[in-house]
Amino acid sequence: MSPRIEAIQATYQMMPHPEGGFYKETYRSDIEIEGELFSNGMTGNRSCSTAILFLLVQNSFSAFHKIKSDEVWHFYDGDPVEIHVIEPNGNYQLIRLGKNALRNEVFQAVVPAGAWFASKTEGEYSLVGCTVAPGFDFADFELAKGERLAAEFPEQRELIYAFCRD
Ligand code: GUN
Repeated sequence: MSPRIEAIQATYQMMPHPEGGFYKETYRSDIEIEGELFSNGMTGNRSCSTAILFLLVQNSFSAFHKIKSDEVWHFYDGDPVEIHVIEPNGNYQLIRLGKNALRNEVFQAVVPAGAWFASKTEGEYSLVGCTVAPGFDFADFELAKGERLAAEFPEQRELIYAFCRD
């Protein structure tokens, strides 16, 4: 791994994420709300909002997963990121997060609650931010099983197998 990537990991003390990549939670609001008050099927209390730094490095990927909140992605540093999104109705969207608007890259993008999504860096590494409201909780996080997801969305079969580990 390059010294730059090692320095980012060390500076932020990033941990491996179960979906792939490395992360550090940088914000968790002290304001809590009962999950039952939200309209998205959460149970138990949730922080109003959370944010992480997320690092993707080459030859790896963030596998297809979904959460119960919208997730706002922010581009910070490195190479562009491709984010593959499959919405519950089967609509597929490719988001390219980056800083070059001339190449259809965007600084910010929203992955809607309940969509399946996976991502990877287009180069050596990408450093991004992910903000979630209501705040992130692993109880709302589901990692896809490739075979099951491919059966639900057969048109995306190849993509799904490329971005699932089991
Ligand atoms: N905290 C731990 N994992 C995650 C994640 O995947 N997304 C967000 N936004 N926060 C997290």
